[in-house]
Amino acid sequence: MSKNHEIQKEIQIGIIGYGTVGSGVVEVLEKNNDEIARRTGYQVKIKTVARRNWTGFDCKKLNFHCTENPREIVDDPEISVVLELIGGEEPARSLIIQAMKNSKHIITANKALIAECGEELFQIAKEQGVSLSYEAAVAGGIPVIKVLREAMSGNKIDRVAGIINGTCNFILSEMQEKKADFQEVLHQAQELGYAEADPSFDIDGIDAAHKLTILASLAFGVPLQFSKVLVEGIRNISAEDIENAAELGFVIRHLGIARRRENGIELRTHPTLINEDAMLARVSGVMNAVQIEGNAVGKTLYYGSGAGKLPTASAVVADLIDTIRDLDDDRASRIAPLGYSEIAYDTLSKHNELSPLAPDEFKSAFYLRLGVKDEVGTLAQITKILADNDISIASILQKTELDTDGIVPLIILTDPVIEKNMNLAVAAIENLPQTVGKLQKIRVGKF
Ligand code: NDP
Ligand code: HSE
Repeated sequence: MSKNHEIQKEIQIGIIGYGTVGSGVVEVLEKNNDEIARRTGYQVKIKTVARRNWTGFDCKKLNFHCTENPREIVDDPEISVVLELIGGEEPARSLIIQAMKNSKHIITANKALIAECGEELFQIAKEQGVSLSYEAAVAGGIPVIKVLREAMSGNKIDRVAGIINGTCNFILSEMQEKKADFQEVLHQAQELGYAEADPSFDIDGIDAAHKLTILASLAFGVPLQFSKVLVEGIRNISAEDIENAAELGFVIRHLGIARRRENGIELRTHPTLINEDAMLARVSGVMNAVQIEGNAVGKTLYYGSGAGKLPTASAVVADLIDTIRDLDDDRASRIAPLGYSEIAYDTLSKHNELSPLAPDEFKSAFYLRLGVKDEVGTLAQITKILADNDISIASILQKTELDTDGIVPLIILTDPVIEKNMNLAVAAIENLPQTVGKLQKIRVGKF
């Protein structure tokens, strides 16, 4: 007999999606059933699981009903909580809306959906008096949503900066440590199940931008504004940049950054040079880490598995436990979904200190790499252009090796500069007759 025979209450749930995350959730719920019952006072029963195709499964041997029609879950009056683990916008959005209209609480791991349709979904959840939870949507197994929404709520948040795409981090750190080629490592990341179904979501920075959109709303109490995020991926990071960065005492990581400035907020995802002694610089492979800086606590860092079957399931199941704990409360959810009872919607219509800044107003230090002809006066012309645009140079490295055409690589590190100035300077430098090809520019972060 179960140790929990005294627990009388039962809650029935339905799971839509039985892929990496869905199957992980079933495994965790089965493995930790007794512990969850002790924590919540409820026995969780998985009533139905939906996927597109159950061919190859012996459904009679599974402890739940299998269906290929998610509406069986969404419309089932016995099911109180629906877990949406299929991903993408549709049909996930419509299924969630229908389930909420049928008074079901929702748990999702779908960052794309929350980042792009969260405002609409949270509004419907409020109207229906149900909860919509999404801990697994950012940084997989790291409970960073809870940290921002609850544990850090005594702070005014200054900056959130994170390695929030495991695939990008895996690729960049393998390129650095094993001197491996980009395409080869990407292929490995896909085989290991880290990359999204469409890997361009990862390597072009879109997945990180979805997550950053959510983190920024939680940090600053602003609407979800995916369209305001500067999105840059890692396709153009070469082995040469990684080597140069190492020579200068940096590593390159893909970061999502939400930063408060005096005149607005910066929302950006891009490759970044990080000083090698920073905590974030030590995060390798598919791991994620998020640094949150508050005006009372200072810097805090959260590290762990940002993807994968069981780590992601850990976050989904924690949301389920929270949902169950709130069941006997009149309120659908104790805490507003984005952590603020008043979201600063005015930032959408008029500019104030929480409005997203345009990317050319961002401020950052830069690493510049360019090929120049080894001629008298080249460096003087380049430094003049930088000075004319109010850009201060932190250091310069001119490589000694000339290639066969007499081109020499020049690396410049700048002090922090407004991006508008940097863009003007880059255009002018690229126009110089002594400059060959496009200039590579990567932002440098201080952590
Ligand atoms: P998978 O592709 O592994 O699984 C998706 C599942 O959804 C499959 O079982 C698929 O069925 C099912 N499915 C898709 N469309 C439908 C549909 N229309 N009706 C019924 N079932 C459907 O994805 P993941 O498990 O990796 O990801 C799920 C969600 O979790 C996504 O939002 C993802 O971004 C998020 N996430 C994933 C992480 C990870 O590490 N994988 C980490 C954090 C979040 P079938 O197999 O039959 O086609
Ligand atoms: N593709 C995502 C990543 C999965 O690489 O981080 C976790 O969200």
